[in-house]
Amino acid sequence: MNVKTGESYAERSTGLGAKILVLGDSGVGKTRLVRRFVEDTFIPRYVATVGVDFRSKAVKVGGKELMLQIWDTAGQERFRSMTTTIFRGAEGAILVYDVSSRVSFDHLEDWIESIRKSADQNIRVVVVGNKTDKEDQIEVDARTGKKFSELMGLNFFETSAQSGKNVDKPFNRLAKEILEARQITETQLFEQERNKVPISEEKKTFECLC
Ligand code: GTP
Repeated sequence: MNVKTGESYAERSTGLGAKILVLGDSGVGKTRLVRRFVEDTFIPRYVATVGVDFRSKAVKVGGKELMLQIWDTAGQERFRSMTTTIFRGAEGAILVYDVSSRVSFDHLEDWIESIRKSADQNIRVVVVGNKTDKEDQIEVDARTGKKFSELMGLNFFETSAQSGKNVDKPFNRLAKEILEARQITETQLFEQERNKVPISEEKKTFECLC
């Protein structure tokens, strides 16, 4: 296991693993979302995450399998300094707020700022409004969440970790975006390498083929 990225050597060397972070204020439901996605369980009792917790699950995207290494981070303020170090090597992030808490939504901009400061510039991010089952306590409606996400250029989902509604969607979407981002990077690297080849070398290859 690579302590910085959370990937096993085999996963890293084959490019089949991807480190993703689950971020957001304390109590928005990050741990419940992850547990629902990975194990399809929901335990209502709240136990604050200390530091970071790890889970992994393989997802299939267009016939390709990607092992998501999910870093469930602590939302509590006292763990924030640690949160910044865990951005290293992350290819994706799920940014969670609670639809029954306006405050958690208002803090999204701070979280996005932290991602900008500490994460790789290619990191893919999706926004999730969780706890949609709390229908009579909604403080942030879907339109508001969607509009904000669009403004930030991010994909948006609403979920309920309690009922399981939509929980797979943000994870699958992120996996897809990560694979697409890798493809773009690979193409760019290939083009860069191609452009590096001296003209004389190119000629040689051309001559040989004749
Ligand atoms: P930290 O570990 O402090 O960062 O919190 P967290 O974001 O991981 O929150 P957690 O998953 O522990 O959930 C906090 C509380 O919200 C728990 O009491 C959960 O039962 C509750 N909760 C989480 N998701 C949902 C949901 O979709 N609906 C409802 N009604 N409650 C939820």
